[in-house]
Amino acid sequence: MKLFLDSANLTEIRDAAAMGLIDGVTTNPSLVAKEGRPFAQLIADICRIVDGPISAEVTAVDAEGIVREGRELVKIHHNVVVKVPLIPEGLKAVRQLSREGIKTNVTLCFSSTQALLAAKAGASFISPFVGRLDDISEQGMDVIKQIVTIYRNYGFSTQVLVASVRHPLHVVEGAMLGAHVATMPYAVLMQLAKHPLTDIGLKKFLADWEKLPKTV
Ligand code: E4P
Repeated sequence: MKLFLDSANLTEIRDAAAMGLIDGVTTNPSLVAKEGRPFAQLIADICRIVDGPISAEVTAVDAEGIVREGRELVKIHHNVVVKVPLIPEGLKAVRQLSREGIKTNVTLCFSSTQALLAAKAGASFISPFVGRLDDISEQGMDVIKQIVTIYRNYGFSTQVLVASVRHPLHVVEGAMLGAHVATMPYAVLMQLAKHPLTDIGLKKFLADWEKLPKTV
């Protein structure tokens, strides 16, 4: 499973990249706005840190505008993936961008029917938002299960990217279902490595080691 960082913060991205832990980065307008820097510059900086798909989201909501923005975004770096909202105009744009060989990540997906349409339009990635579905008492992971099954049944090459990840269980369940990618905030990435028994065990090993008579 590929692990992406869902962040536009260069400190977090550098740290995760230094551990060799991330295969790509997803951003969205809210994450970018928090950084208070020009969008294109920020995306270029992220591309210099991580050698993998970097999602940059369009803000147009009409097909022509989305395609125009997408063409500009991919000029920033060859790793840029154009993030497009899952609306009918977005699907039209995805079809056109895919014809031009431009990779897309279709975002704000909340159902398997939406995901089916995105795959048919030629999306490179589909981003179902599991956390936001859980927030409204729906089972986010059920949608992942349906999408993975549908894509397998028909041999779609669109990669399932588990998004809106809130905790490690979302990553585990996504991996067990065969999702291709999970994108997560920095804090969740760190939680993946953490186990209290590891910390307790290490503390004990080091304390025992200290009891060893010191040789001259
Ligand atoms: C994914 O691409 C989105 O940017 C992100 O996962 C949304 O997460 P949130 O629901 O925690 O805002």
